[in-house]
Amino acid sequence: MSAEYKVDGSIAVITLNNPPVNGLGHATRHAIVEGMKQAQNNDAVKAIIITGAGKAFSGGADIKEFNSPKAFAEPSLHTVISVIESSDKPVIAAIHSVAMGGGLELALGCHYRVASPGAQIALPEVKLGILPGAGGTQRLPRVVGLELALNMIVSGTPIASEKLAKTALFNELAEGDLMAAATAFAHKVADVRPLPKVRDIKIDYPNYEAFLQFSRNTVRAMSGPFPAPLKCVEAVAAAVTKKFDDGIKFERDLFLELVQTTESKALRHAFFGERAASKLPDVPDDTPTRPVKSVAVIGAGTMGGGIAMNFANAGIPVQILEMKQEALDKGLATIRKNYENTLKKGKLTQEKFEQRVALITGTLSYEAIAQADMVIEAVFEDMGVKEQVFKKLDEVMKPGAILASNTSTLDVDKIADFTKRPQDVVGTHFFSPANVMKLLEIVRGKKTAKDVLATVLAISKKIKKTGVVSGVCDGFIGNRMIEQYSRQAGFLLEEGCTPEQVDKAVEKLGFAMGPFRMGDLAGNDIGWYIRKRRYVEKPHITYSKTADLLCELGRFGQKTGAGWYDYKPGDRKAYPSAVVNDMIVKHSADLGIERRKISDQEIVERLIYSLVNEAAYILEEGIATRASDIDMVYLTGYGFPLHTGGPMFYADTVGLPNVVRAMEKYAKGRHGDAWKPAPLLAKLAEEGKTFN
Ligand code: 3HC
Ligand code: NAI
Repeated sequence: MSAEYKVDGSIAVITLNNPPVNGLGHATRHAIVEGMKQAQNNDAVKAIIITGAGKAFSGGADIKEFNSPKAFAEPSLHTVISVIESSDKPVIAAIHSVAMGGGLELALGCHYRVASPGAQIALPEVKLGILPGAGGTQRLPRVVGLELALNMIVSGTPIASEKLAKTALFNELAEGDLMAAATAFAHKVADVRPLPKVRDIKIDYPNYEAFLQFSRNTVRAMSGPFPAPLKCVEAVAAAVTKKFDDGIKFERDLFLELVQTTESKALRHAFFGERAASKLPDVPDDTPTRPVKSVAVIGAGTMGGGIAMNFANAGIPVQILEMKQEALDKGLATIRKNYENTLKKGKLTQEKFEQRVALITGTLSYEAIAQADMVIEAVFEDMGVKEQVFKKLDEVMKPGAILASNTSTLDVDKIADFTKRPQDVVGTHFFSPANVMKLLEIVRGKKTAKDVLATVLAISKKIKKTGVVSGVCDGFIGNRMIEQYSRQAGFLLEEGCTPEQVDKAVEKLGFAMGPFRMGDLAGNDIGWYIRKRRYVEKPHITYSKTADLLCELGRFGQKTGAGWYDYKPGDRKAYPSAVVNDMIVKHSADLGIERRKISDQEIVERLIYSLVNEAAYILEEGIATRASDIDMVYLTGYGFPLHTGGPMFYADTVGLPNVVRAMEKYAKGRHGDAWKPAPLLAKLAEEGKTFN
């Protein structure tokens, strides 16, 4: 049942009951209208309360329905709201916990609203690439004012109900029992006529034209490739410039236009992708988790410090263990400096600053960390060092402690086998800077216990990361794919591109950074180190030697003041380098390659399809659970443009047969062996299917 109807004396109560968040899907909408009819037809009923069961009043329209005709089937949310608004008995929304999107629009259609303090109020549609489509842009400005409504609608950010207490949105904030307060309120207003309707409120904002123009300019500059924010402004403008019903129609048309855009589909994909990533088919939702009330981190270097900050930010005490006092002091000082910078920027209160700094302590002794619930190793990327550390951890850590490694390339199964408790070992691959980057690859070893995985997935949510589970393989999901992308980037240089041309082509698509600017930022020596290992371990894999030649010149990137680009001291801006460009041209000549003009389309296709093809192998091998997990890795860890939905969603949008056709074309060029479509990709393309 998606909404329950009951009568208590002279008050009818319609309780939305569509777990998990009372999404207003077709069945729920239908049940609300049925409830309203029953209440209208019952002479004993004098007022109607609409409320929500469980953890929300309502999270809004059922986003899962958006791709099906059900989303638009009658009764639409518009119809539901007009049934409520035109009721001749007063309707009161009793709001607890969450009223978002269509949920808030439903409440705005009621004659009165009573809310609990702390309820999260938002019109977050813009985050899904759409706008409020059931009157939100027309009604919210009428109750909270033009400026606040516009801010709420363009940002989508939730506001706590008590912060809206001074507006006309709520008739009452109920400190105690919400239903008792709403019922008392219903009795009070049962005979009051005429019934107040938000639609009848006049918006009083004399200089609205100037404000709207300013908003358009600001929003246009901020919204990048997304059309929705500017349309939100236009819809809110209609609330002042048009009659109510015309404004509603205008809003509806914009909504229907936006819901079909690739950008909105990509954002919806990312919304569900993020939530799906926290689920594993063989780890049920009710798998017990281990308590993690204290954490230890081994190594106070680049990664260890950032990892520790994540836990302190979530209120969990962390001990950092180092080999030498000097390294420990340096690590702790860097952490303090990071927090001081955030404090200076006003993004942290003094109180929180002190709390967080106090939560991170240092030690040189393994005995001191023995009682920690979870330990994360972030020492040098060397199997010998990892072996030493894990043997020691096995010796000292209390039974049941989770033993995690932040290794980026090493075999987690081997690391687990250094201990007598491989079931407790897991990879937690944070991305640099670890306190900033959203992605956490959770590497599942062959023997990792299910409750360890469930715990690490829960912890990743607690520390506000997007946790994605990867099986064990060289590079896990993200770096295994990026290797193919980097190889193509190298070949493009040999064939005719400059680093700048390659970077610009993908940055135009929306990448945060192209491969060469990224290399300069991360340090080109890291890739060099990995390639040297591969030349020995996997001699059949071909690479362009350009990156090695660059490293031989000592051009490791920003940290050495020179990389693929030139840099000026104290400036991160990349300047094209004549030295590098000459080196590239000479290398082509040495290889006997006649350089040619390469189009941006070819650059983008070769870089992205190389990712997609490797991803198809990863999916087929079961290293990733689902295609959307791969998209989440790239959206949250590799700066892949959000509006494209990630590499797999992008390939789906282009059409897999088109992807395969392009690959067949590139297979005829140099290093054509790289373009053999993965069996899964070939099969899906042939069957006309998609990854997602
Ligand atoms: N429709 C369908 N499913 C929804 C949903 C919605 N509007 N909102 C949340 N869910 C689902 C999630 O997919 C998840 O499902 P799962 O358990 O199967 O993975 C489950 O509800 C719980 O979601 P969260 O993990 O996000 O739970 P939280 O408690 O952390 O957060 C929330 C709850 C604040 C409601 C959050 O889910 C959220 O922000 N939801 C989106 C709200 C939104 O964007 N609403 C606008 C919808 S569009 C609209 O209303 C159009 C209208 O204007 C016409
Ligand atoms: P780092 O060199 O900055 O720090 C390593 C720290 O570990 C040093 O402070 C060192 O003194 C300490 N250390 C070494 N051996 C130790 C031991 N036996 N006991 C205690 N402390 C010890 O290295 P970084 O960059 O922080 O990398 C750490 C791990 O994280 C590596 O496995 C690396 O592959 C991985 N990683 C690194 C990323 C990066 O961008 N730097 C990204 C993701 C993972």
